[in-house]
Amino acid sequence: MIIEPNALGLARRGAEIFSTAANKSFKIRGRFVVAISGGSTPRNLHRTLGEEPFRSNIPWEKTDIFWVDERFVPENDPASNYGAAMEDFLERVPIPKAQIHPMLHEGNPEKSALNYQQELLKIFKVRAGEFPVFDLILLGIGTDGHTASLFPGQSALKEKSKWVVAVIGGNPNVSRLTMTYPLLNQAERIVFIASGREKAPILKAVLEDTKSRLPAHMITPLTGELIWLLDQEAASLLSRELVHEGA
Ligand code: 6PG
Repeated sequence: MIIEPNALGLARRGAEIFSTAANKSFKIRGRFVVAISGGSTPRNLHRTLGEEPFRSNIPWEKTDIFWVDERFVPENDPASNYGAAMEDFLERVPIPKAQIHPMLHEGNPEKSALNYQQELLKIFKVRAGEFPVFDLILLGIGTDGHTASLFPGQSALKEKSKWVVAVIGGNPNVSRLTMTYPLLNQAERIVFIASGREKAPILKAVLEDTKSRLPAHMITPLTGELIWLLDQEAASLLSRELVHEGA
């Protein structure tokens, strides 16, 4: 667990983790494949990625960007995670357009979910029954314990084979596309990012109640690393042992 004093420190630390993961994957495999989240929390981090030194020290030419989830809205809608990320950093870094893989608002959500699986297959050459392994996945958490667009009580939580499914929920309460647990949990590294006092109670529930069935609690990478990146307000209700142990 990493605890930063405030939201700006969180953004900086998140950008450093992104940069370290990108350079490590580039060195080992010549490529970096990451899935990012939407919502408000990652926006400072995304803006930081669009600035120096990150604009120059990340191998953007060899980076592929996917989305963990998306609201099923046109890309120019203010609720679009893709639209926000384009504005926050993707328009300002030297990444080839073909390496940006938005969840498209085309046809109906179910069809778009299937299309996204095809889009993933273009980059991840996996055999039938295997799942892609992302180098890095950035996740947020909602005050109800959802992560990605995996909401409490929904059938998407039980998905075992599809990589991406369509759901309805959240704020805004709209159709969405989301990656599923079997895909997310393959990742080499997953970073949860949470900021602010309003997230403190749910973080306590997810991190301290071992029997919790909240969606965020079910993110358990099979062999990869799980990092919680919080600011002090978000971590304010966690037990001293947990904070100390993770420090
Ligand atoms: C989305 C998300 C979602 C988000 C949480 C936290 O598109 O809505 O990817 O899972 O990470 O809802 O959102 P905030 O950062 O806005 O609190």
